[in-house]
Amino acid sequence: MSDTQLTAPPEALGDVPSAGPQGETPLRTPMVAPLGRARTPEPLALVVFGATGDLMRRKLMPALWRLRQEGMLPDDFAIVGNAREATDDGDFRERMRAALAEFAEEPDAAEWEKFSHRLRFVGGSTDDPATFVQLATVLREVDRDCGTQGNRLFYLALPPSVVAQTAEGLGRAGLVCHPEDACYTRIIVEKPFGRDLDSARALNASLLKVFAEPQIFRIDHYLGKETLQNLLVFRFANTIWEPLWGRNYVDHVQITVSETVGVESRAGYYDRSGALRDMIQSHLLQILTLVAMEPPASYDADSIRNEKVKVLQAIPLLQGDDLGRHAVRGQYAASAEGAEGEPMPGYRDEKDVPEGSRTETFAALRLLVDNWRWAGVPFYLRTGKRLKAKQSEVVIRFRPAPHPVRDLVQDDPPAPNALVLHIQPDEGISLFFEAKVPGIRGPLRPVSMDMKYTSAFEGAESPEAYQRLLLDAMLGDATLFARRDEVEAAWTLITPILQAWEAGGEPDPYPAGSWGPACADELLGREGRSWHEPTG
Ligand code: BG6
Repeated sequence: MSDTQLTAPPEALGDVPSAGPQGETPLRTPMVAPLGRARTPEPLALVVFGATGDLMRRKLMPALWRLRQEGMLPDDFAIVGNAREATDDGDFRERMRAALAEFAEEPDAAEWEKFSHRLRFVGGSTDDPATFVQLATVLREVDRDCGTQGNRLFYLALPPSVVAQTAEGLGRAGLVCHPEDACYTRIIVEKPFGRDLDSARALNASLLKVFAEPQIFRIDHYLGKETLQNLLVFRFANTIWEPLWGRNYVDHVQITVSETVGVESRAGYYDRSGALRDMIQSHLLQILTLVAMEPPASYDADSIRNEKVKVLQAIPLLQGDDLGRHAVRGQYAASAEGAEGEPMPGYRDEKDVPEGSRTETFAALRLLVDNWRWAGVPFYLRTGKRLKAKQSEVVIRFRPAPHPVRDLVQDDPPAPNALVLHIQPDEGISLFFEAKVPGIRGPLRPVSMDMKYTSAFEGAESPEAYQRLLLDAMLGDATLFARRDEVEAAWTLITPILQAWEAGGEPDPYPAGSWGPACADELLGREGRSWHEPTG
């Protein structure tokens, strides 16, 4: 594919899309560069705290390597890793090479040789001021040797408990430029951003003592997923959905993020977190805001985030009886036949899970968005570990047809239309509608029109979420990062539920490999609805 095709402007408005030679449709011609823009960041040093951890090995290093292979990193670039353990530049470089071999590709020896001398390591704890003094020295060396010009992006791949002290350490060591300086400093903070509303507010206050809000990038890797970015394009670059998008035509919305994996080796973190904090507070609420937000006046970071915040603020808090009815939880129990037919342990039998743990591994909520567009339309959210399939999808279920078509077809009442946005895997979009089975007065059957990314954009690979997000942070584009008020609005909704669940009761058990506890079915069932059966 030539560069001209990649950057070709959209067809002139008013042109009727027509099939090309081999039945090609305009959809097959990517209209934007793979990452949506072709800018290269200014020279910079990326400093990763927690650089020997899993996130760096599995996600960040592979993403950086791919960016480099695609020519999207500046020539004057360096990575400085920090971790508590004592290691040196040579060992750190070797670990990163091994991480690429395991999680991306074995790097070409000559290419790696050129790149690896741009990797440095500073050992030491973030509660020790000497660590930051040493870091400042190495950053000066890196500016001199790699031409990074004093620009720094700090990535905190650290637990929330040490984020504030790390930011303070950076400030005290004079490592933070002011927004008006010639050089720039930005900080990326990983989720979970706090544990509840109070701790999130406290964390924001600590960060804001050292950094200005535009310098803070709160990451939620779901926003880096191609399919979620496409949700905005789907809604706002097409006119046909807008009149349908709201209470006049939509009966309800379902957002499912299900996983087949269990707690894996993360019980230390997960048992203190649970599904509500780990997934709903961040990923699922982010998806909800993208589905429900109003079209922004322009597509800059703040205009988009303003609209997302308004959605969160329009959601009434679950309280009292409503909380009991509309927020349900579960925990996976041992099963003789899991998703793949093999026996699976229960959550409480997993390594490092405390005996009798009450942590939920499944959560489902029914929320309303109390505004003009969505009044009265329930949004059902569910997520869980050890469910039947790995599937993330949004289902927009439309209202049933108002008048039966009895005279045309046999008995069956028509099933309501549904639009399904497949976030992962099998990325795509399906529109389900009714059709008549051929034959005299044949019955109705739901059929679907499907768009699959793999066939619509043949040969185009979706970048990994971290690739996109790292590049955006380097470019200073905060559109796909959560703003302070957004994070706090999300915690405002979630905290009363956390408190109620912590105060008492137990999650309902569900067999590992099932679709979750019965209470999740009742959440919809008592309103005459049911969860969409995933098609993947
Ligand atoms: C993380 C959660 O944020 O997202 C994990 O902490 C979860 O528990 C993961 O497994 C899911 O991400 P993805 O991209 O695999 O859907």
